[in-house]
Amino acid sequence: MARSARKLKIGFIGGGNRGPGLQDLILEMEDVEIIAVCELYQDRLDAMVKRCTDKGKKAPKAYLDYLDLLDENMEKLDCVIAPTAWESHVEIAVACMSRGIPVGFEVGGAYSIDDCWQLVRVSEASGTPCMMLENCCYGRPEMAVLKMVREGLFGEVVHCEGGYHHDLRSEICMGIENRHYRLRNFKTRNGELYPTHELGPICKWLNVNRGNRMLSLTATSSKAVGLNAWAKEHRGADDPLATFKFNEGDIVTTVIKCANGETIVLTHDCSLHRPYSRGNVIQGTKGIYMEDKNAMSVEGISEVREGWDPDTWTPMEEIYKNHEHPLWKKFQDAGVKGGHGGMDYLVLRAFLEAVRDGKAMPIDVYDSAAWMAITPLSEESIACGSAPVAIPDFTNGLWVMDRPYEKGTYCLEEVCKPGNL
Ligand SMILES: NC(=O)c1ccc[n+]([C@@H]2O[C@H](COP(=O)([O-])OP(=O)(O)OC[C@H]3O[C@@H](n4cnc5c(N)ncnc54)[C@H](O)[C@@H]3O)[C@@H](O)[C@H]2O)c1
Repeated sequence: MARSARKLKIGFIGGGNRGPGLQDLILEMEDVEIIAVCELYQDRLDAMVKRCTDKGKKAPKAYLDYLDLLDENMEKLDCVIAPTAWESHVEIAVACMSRGIPVGFEVGGAYSIDDCWQLVRVSEASGTPCMMLENCCYGRPEMAVLKMVREGLFGEVVHCEGGYHHDLRSEICMGIENRHYRLRNFKTRNGELYPTHELGPICKWLNVNRGNRMLSLTATSSKAVGLNAWAKEHRGADDPLATFKFNEGDIVTTVIKCANGETIVLTHDCSLHRPYSRGNVIQGTKGIYMEDKNAMSVEGISEVREGWDPDTWTPMEEIYKNHEHPLWKKFQDAGVKGGHGGMDYLVLRAFLEAVRDGKAMPIDVYDSAAWMAITPLSEESIACGSAPVAIPDFTNGLWVMDRPYEKGTYCLEEVCKPGNL
């Protein structure tokens, strides 16, 4: 039976912090079913099964090893969703694709450039797609900016900024108790560890991998004292983390140069006190949008005056009134659902509907590889005193061609009329 005429059968790997929210969302969807789940930890695996049965669904088969899940269900699975720790994204994606199973994996940076090439090569050789589930590409403000960029509102775009500004001191320092991966990464690495929440939408705004590409970067790291200070205050001066010499700097700044001349500045900022922000900025010849001002200033629309008088900027409510992305208009009419303000639902549907219809992913393997590569490249740059590092072209030259893409509801290349949600 064609995939579109029956429920999609999903294998779900990873039941830590992120997994339960995504699993709950999937369990509410009528056209999909989770037939198998996997976790390294027995208690989390049991909870994943229970989450299904509590919702009145059939108990999925449960596995402690994802290779067993894939091998025993290969004929049945339509796709896999993997909200696992960063270290396992590539190996799981490669194992799925080499068995012909499309895979959506959670966000995070790679550990090596070889990993990124492996993703691309295996996807190309197997003809099987993968998608990084970068929910922020479907965020309401990010999609409004995409629409405004495509309409030329900012003129020719010159510069973008973004950051992962998230006070994660408690999550990181409680890493042993919570069996969480961030602590070990902050202890050992020093780089832009989590670039994609901001870089994903920026790359779509700038047509990266479609007529543009990221050429090179430099990265610089500050000192690392934020986690020590937090641990001392909250866990006591005798706690090992109060004096541990963390490698990851509190603020890591990465500057990327694009082939079409734009610059991108990324900031990784998780170990100091501050409110959450993705710090998006886009600036062109006609105007600027700044997430942290919750507003834009555009010639011919906003009043042009010197200084930072908030009255001269166009506030977000005004932007949404005039420039809301049609997908978000429809989503609001239909009733926004899912975590992170709705974007979790949209990114899952984008992936699942591409699998169902056998269509190309809106975030394809070349996007995923290019965004993930920023992490090891930034580590290399920092290790070499902020030296410039070349960014590989994972499309192998295809970026200069007019690469075809799927139009439709979840398209991130152009603004399309959405179908049913
Ligand atoms: N998109 C978002 O808004 C968002 C939000 C939070 C987390 N995330 C991402 O979700 C992922 C998971 O984050 P988290 O906070 O839930 O981490 P976590 O450590 O709490 O959970 C990850 C789980 O994956 C399991 N796992 C790891 N390797 C595995 C393997 N080989 N087989 C089976 N299970 C395996 C671990 O046992 C763990 O329970 C990360 O990539 C993170 O960046 C995304």
